[in-house]
Amino acid sequence: MKDETSALAETRSRDTLGAIGCSKVVAGMWRVREWNMSAAALNRYVQESMALGVTTFDHADIYGGGEVEALFGDALAQTPSLRGKMQIVSKAGIRPRGSSAGAVGVKHYDTSRVYLQAAVERSLQRLKTDYLDLFLIHRPDHLANNDEIADAAESLIQQGKIRAFGVSNFTPRQFDSLRAKIALATNQIEFSPFELQALDDDVFTALSAAAVSPMIWSALGGGRLFSETDELAVRLRQELTTLAEKYNAPSWISIAYAWIFTLPCAPYVLVGSRRVESLQQALDGLGVRLNREDWYAILEAARGKPVP
Ligand SMILES: NC(=O)c1ccc[n+]([C@@H]2O[C@H](COP(=O)([O-])OP(=O)(O)OC[C@H]3O[C@@H](n4cnc5c(N)ncnc54)[C@H](OP(=O)(O)O)[C@@H]3O)[C@@H](O)[C@H]2O)c1
Repeated sequence: MKDETSALAETRSRDTLGAIGCSKVVAGMWRVREWNMSAAALNRYVQESMALGVTTFDHADIYGGGEVEALFGDALAQTPSLRGKMQIVSKAGIRPRGSSAGAVGVKHYDTSRVYLQAAVERSLQRLKTDYLDLFLIHRPDHLANNDEIADAAESLIQQGKIRAFGVSNFTPRQFDSLRAKIALATNQIEFSPFELQALDDDVFTALSAAAVSPMIWSALGGGRLFSETDELAVRLRQELTTLAEKYNAPSWISIAYAWIFTLPCAPYVLVGSRRVESLQQALDGLGVRLNREDWYAILEAARGKPVP
């Protein structure tokens, strides 16, 4: 019994996302430029999100070529007291052609120590803050040197510029090999009924074994779930609507989130909507645990066939 209790305590203490205060529903900032919001409007969105309990905001240096972080920094500057009550996540490592993150001829990945240090400093400047709560390598770099990455991350933590470190879009093998060098708080990955690769590639199994929670991006297929013409989206919505009635959920959209929250790897989920109501739908999904048959019914609708 004692062993079980201490094992549980250790698992909990390894929930770094929870330890740094991340909310289970995270507001994704990728599309902010499309939202055409002023800094004042974004400040309102942030305050309304936080009032719901969504206190974590996901960025990357390349979102809007740096403009998204800059606009968020302006929004934050209007109410500086918000900073201590929120968690800012950002990522770096992708250098698109001709962008502020690159200004290079060929789009490539860069996880060199010098580049990561400079990228974090640029993000901090744009966000008008002293630290990131969580910094992620955006995509695996084929030329990565894991010792160098670990060194860079440790140095950023020592300098107080980041509170925790993690990765995004890593395979289980890539995740485990870097985790052998430095603690990783998460692997931020795509997963939805439209994108099931993470199940097939054992991403969740590997994360569960490491007691690390994934952060899930494009949980609604980047909006594909709302398509009127996409056969798969229509089929999924039918299944989700049936289950929403069964579980007395306020919306079928909440069941789409419940499908992810029911996974045993204790995921955090990113929402990419400009509307605060969408964050509430994700929060409603957090309160629903689907039974096995119903979880598999959604998988069957997603695959268009029963499990073997
Ligand atoms: N690590 C990575 O490589 C990576 C890659 C992509 C994204 N991300 C992160 O993940 C976040 C979420 O990704 P995403 O934007 O593709 O996710 P998503 O939430 O699946 O899709 C958002 C899109 O769906 C639409 N939508 C309509 N109704 C919605 C509802 N009720 N709830 C949510 N969305 C609704 C949104 O439009 P409206 O605004 O009109 O609601 C928006 O266009 C991004 O913001 C970014 O922070 C990370």
